[in-house]
Parts: sequence; C-alpha cells; structure tokens
Amino acid sequence: MTAGLSCPTVLCVVGARPNFMKIAPIYAAFADYHNVMQPYLVHTGQHYDEAMKDSFFHQLGIPEPNVDLEVGSGSHAVQTAQVMLKFEPVLDEINPCCVLVVGDVNSTIACSLVSVKKHIPVIHVEAGLRSRDRNMPEEINRILTDQLSDLLFTTEASAKNNLLSEGITESKIHFVGNVMIDSLLANLRRAVPFHQVLRERLELMPGGIEKQGYAVATLHRPSNVDDPIVLEKIINVLRSISEKIPVIFSIHPRTNKMIEQSRLLETNGAKNLYLLPPIPYLEMLGLMDSAKLVLTDSGGLQEETTALGVPCVTLRQNTERPVTVDQGTNTIVGNDPDKIAACVEDILVSGGKAGNIPELWDGKAAGRIVSIINRRYIAG
Ligand code: UD1
Repeated sequence: MTAGLSCPTVLCVVGARPNFMKIAPIYAAFADYHNVMQPYLVHTGQHYDEAMKDSFFHQLGIPEPNVDLEVGSGSHAVQTAQVMLKFEPVLDEINPCCVLVVGDVNSTIACSLVSVKKHIPVIHVEAGLRSRDRNMPEEINRILTDQLSDLLFTTEASAKNNLLSEGITESKIHFVGNVMIDSLLANLRRAVPFHQVLRERLELMPGGIEKQGYAVATLHRPSNVDDPIVLEKIINVLRSISEKIPVIFSIHPRTNKMIEQSRLLETNGAKNLYLLPPIPYLEMLGLMDSAKLVLTDSGGLQEETTALGVPCVTLRQNTERPVTVDQGTNTIVGNDPDKIAACVEDILVSGGKAGNIPELWDGKAAGRIVSIINRRYIAG
C-alpha cells in the first residue's frame, strides 16, 4: 500500500498528444474499482503547448495530472534521460503496484525502463505493433517496452504473433481492442461539426465547402518533415491536390518549425490549401468524420479513419497497424508525389475503400484492461 494513498495504486503515464486519447478511457474505467485500486496520473511534459496538451485533457475529461515532470523537448537522449531522472523519485514516493504505459513515444520507454529496474511490473497498452522499420524511433520504443512488460494489451490480431516471435510468453498477452477507438466512439456525438470548425478557424462561410467536399492532411514524422527537400515535395503535392479538392492542412509544431526555417509556405499561392495550427480533439474528430479523405503519416489517424469509414492515404512506406489496410480504409503510398496524387485521384473517382470495423474495436477495450489488471495484481 502506498503512503498517503488509500488503496493499491496503478501509476499511469502520459507524455505526448496521442497518449491522451488512450489514457482517458482507461482512467475513467478505474471508477468501477473505487476502493479496490486507484489510478495516479503522471504527465512527463513531453508535449506541453496548450494546443498539444491542455485542450485534450479538458475535452477528454482527464483530470489534472497528479505530477507533471515538465521535461519538454530535446534530442531523443536528452528527452528520454530527463523523463527517467524525473520519474524515479515519483516512483519511489508513490510505490505503485504496477505502472501502466501507452503507445510508443519516448515517455513510454523511459518510464518502463525505470519501473522494471525497480521490480515494479509494467503494463503496456497497444503492445506488439511492428512496422519493421528501425529508423522510426517509435519502433525501437515499441520493441523495448514490450520486452520489459509484464502484461501486454493488444489492439489487433497481428500483434500477438509479433510478440510470440520475439519470445514473449503467451500468458502475458491479452487481445482487448483499441482504447483510442474507445475515445472516438465515446466522443463522436460531441465532435464539433466540420462547418463550425471551418467557420471559426478559417472564416469560411457556410456552403463554401460541403460535407465530404474536402481532404484533411497532417504530417509530423521525421522521415517526411525533417528534410526540407522531402517536405517541399509533399507540400507541392498537397498544393496540386488542392486544385481538385480543398485541403485542410493541420500543422504539427515539428512540421511548423521546418516550414518556417525553410520558408516553404511563404508564397502559399494555393487558394484551396488551408493551413491550421494543431486543433483540439473534438474539432479534429468533426473534421475527419466529414472529410472525403485523410492524408497522414500519423499512426492514430490510420486507426481513427478506419473506425470512421473515411479513406486514408498514408504517407509512409509501412505501417505497424496492418489491420487498417487489410480490413480498414487505409492505403500505404509512401512519400512519392506521383503515388500520392494517383491514390487521391482514385479515391475521388471511385470513392475509395469502404472497409470494415476490426475485431473488438467496440468502445469497451478500457473496461477489459482494468478488469484484467484487477485480476492480475489486486484480486488474484
Ligand atoms: C512525438 C512522438 C511521436 C508521436 C508524436 C505525436 C517520440 C519519439 N515521438 O513526436 O511518436 O507520433 O509525438 O505528436 O516520442 N513541440 C512544441 N510543443 C509541444 C511539443 C513539441 O512546440 O508541446 C515541438 C518542439 O519543437 C519539439 C518538436 O515539436 O522539438 C518535436 O516534439 P517531440 O516531442 O520531440 O516529438 P514529436 O515530433 O512531437
């Protein structure tokens, strides 16, 4: 039992934007275990801007974190090391029965490593996804976090095979579904209608752009945005797509920094390429839900578009989420401008993939997770 805390504590870690929609339903599911176990929320501070953090906490109903480590940005080594240094004393003080991490960001691996060396079991939510691309920092984080974890919760069937092939014991693996889709289903009715987002953010008048009459674009992977030549090619293809269908481009801080440094959008010139800063969750949900298609290099958007039935064009060479391609609406095209343009053209002509909802993406993953945690560490 933790000093000052009334029942066994599950320390939950978040760090970056995509972690917030994953932790929200898990945190809420602990309410059913009141007096049995309680969550304790640590935010590492990897993402810290209002647009990248606070609006998500607020809209998703996540309480203020118990602790904010305020690590901020830095190289991979600096950021990971800062999280480890600042997380250790919190772990010593709280002495939880287990530590729950989500996703694949630097905060995920950093907190897992500190915990396991203190013999505190690590629970990984969204385990077993593999792109087989070790140039992606997230792939390294995924492989290592899974090796350190005592309980591994998976979102799709392929993940279990990946884990078994890496020598992970079958009894640790539980296929529970997708907590990111729990958040999507719980919030879809509250999503801000697309015309309101376009009016309030871009001053576009009603009727200017119709439902399914626009594309949404997001980009932030280092492989697409850190090299100005690659980024310029992608922006040019977005410009040419915008001549056929208006494109709403939501610009991540990493991408914005590169665009400003290389002055890539100074002469935008394309009147149907609309630029947005990062926008809150309920606005993005509304924009995606009514879009004709989404162009992205995000992992989360590949899954969210599959859940929404909206065609997704993924600007990467691979995906760690193959169910979105095999069963969902996702097409992997890489970052070759001709291939991107051809895929968009095909969607505009044929309507694109309709897709099916993957198994267990039913809005109930978090409940399954917390029930298994209870059986494994508390009741059992
Ligand atoms: C991180 C994750 C990535 C995830 C992405 C979602 C790792 C290795 N990468 O990438 O997996 O898909 O988050 O957004 O963990 N910045 C701000 N404000 C913020 C946060 C960042 O301006 O609140 C800027 C800083 O200039 C920073 C840059 O964005 O240097 C990159 O941030 P960082 O956390 O290093 O990685 P992301 O690219 O956001």
